[in-house]
Amino acid sequence: MPTISLQGRPYFYQERGTGEPLLLFHGFPFTGDSFRPQLDAAPKGVRLIVPDHRGFGQSALAPGVATMEAMAEDGLALLDALKISSAFVGGVSMGGYVAIALTRLDPGRVRGLLLLDTQSLADDEAGKARREATAQDVAKNGVGALVEGMLPKLMAPSVAPAVRARVEKMMRAQSPQAVAAASRGMATRLDGKDILSRFSGPCAIVVGVEDAITPVEKAKVMHELVAGSTLDVIAGAGHLANLEQPQALTPIIARLVERA
Ligand code: MLT
Repeated sequence: MPTISLQGRPYFYQERGTGEPLLLFHGFPFTGDSFRPQLDAAPKGVRLIVPDHRGFGQSALAPGVATMEAMAEDGLALLDALKISSAFVGGVSMGGYVAIALTRLDPGRVRGLLLLDTQSLADDEAGKARREATAQDVAKNGVGALVEGMLPKLMAPSVAPAVRARVEKMMRAQSPQAVAAASRGMATRLDGKDILSRFSGPCAIVVGVEDAITPVEKAKVMHELVAGSTLDVIAGAGHLANLEQPQALTPIIARLVERA
């Protein structure tokens, strides 16, 4: 089982394919298995590296709030362990927040960015309060209400029932402590405007046309910030475009790494 130890804490990752390294971070509250279609058919010329964030899937939880910076540091430590000096970095939703945080921490290691169904904006005060309420509810009552609240907004109504069932199962399996720590972490995230407007490498932005959580307008904000970025709006997909329409993502990743 590919795992590194971060101060004694197991950090699990999956790796597929050969070529340009692409470190991909999953969203909330999922695991690296949410990239199953990409892991099963890694785009040509790409070495996919997909960790489970601290506390999720097979990675152990660290004490305290799981900030985007802390998760980004875990990702940087994985690159160190794999002796990769720089990589393409990307993520879905919360994973995109982590990719932007990693770019803030160590821009020299980011060869290019893949921002999937995510946004650059920080939470407003009402959003932060919702995150805290979620953290408290999940810690007390488990993840059930969060899953039931998120599920109808996550995927386009046309999603295959098997995909929907797999997503629900993955969400229900996550530890309430990890979910609470990440919910509080997302509330503390910084606005990514400064980072994205300085970023000069290749950048692909992707959003499902029916994304109800980080809609197309949020993707357009990032597209305006990153000079030379591409924006692809995926038909028949909601917030989990990589799972809902995986065939649409493969050529986008291939084109991105060709710009290395
Ligand atoms: C996610 O999919 O990672 C979350 O919906 C992101 C968020 O709640 O901001």
